[in-house]
Amino acid sequence: MKVNYFGHSCFLLQAAGKRILIDPFISPNELARDINIDEIVCDYILVSHGHSDHVADLIDIAKRTGATIISSFELVQWASKQGAEKVHPMNLGGSWDFDFGNVKMTYAAHSNSLPDGSYGGTAGGFLVKTENKTYYYSGDTALISDMKLLGELYDIDHAFLCIGDNFTMGVDDAIIAAKFINCKKIIGMHYDTFGYIKIDEEKAKQKFEDAGLKLTLMKISDKPEDAEEI
Ligand code: NI
Ligand code: MN
Repeated sequence: MKVNYFGHSCFLLQAAGKRILIDPFISPNELARDINIDEIVCDYILVSHGHSDHVADLIDIAKRTGATIISSFELVQWASKQGAEKVHPMNLGGSWDFDFGNVKMTYAAHSNSLPDGSYGGTAGGFLVKTENKTYYYSGDTALISDMKLLGELYDIDHAFLCIGDNFTMGVDDAIIAAKFINCKKIIGMHYDTFGYIKIDEEKAKQKFEDAGLKLTLMKISDKPEDAEEI
């Protein structure tokens, strides 16, 4: 799988010939100013929850590309009302075989509301199985003991974990989460975008290294040459 980082918690995955965008918050993000949302091409958009720092560009991109939005039942209902044409509703613990692989919606301990204030269902994360590998995207979440179950049941190759603290896990809790899910290769997200979640990147990497783990903090870029192969 190839991954580009579009800042905050937004990634573009390329797997099994499909392009999958996650949590599109790009145009309001000063750190992602070089990325033009009108040039993003994707087949699917996974959305963990409805906070604006995860859905800001969702409707625009979904309408232009015709991509299928995969998220909670409540969030896709809202997206449909905004004019998104293709949606796939899910809920916690459910999984589905898509043409790029299997997606399971996982539990996240976080609040959830949509930009218009309506109820967004439960916040979630995703377990994506594609190209014979398993990836975990935590979404916004606190450290939860349920992550131990993921470590027991699945062989997770790479995990995208929130590390910015204040609204989600910080670095120390993300290290415990990595141990719970039994995954050594972590890609950080939900950090540095705004004041509350600024981190010391070198210190964070060192802490992961000291714990026998590898933290990757990707460069924000939509260029194919900046994609990481994971
Ligand atoms: Ni949130
Ligand atoms: Mn968030």
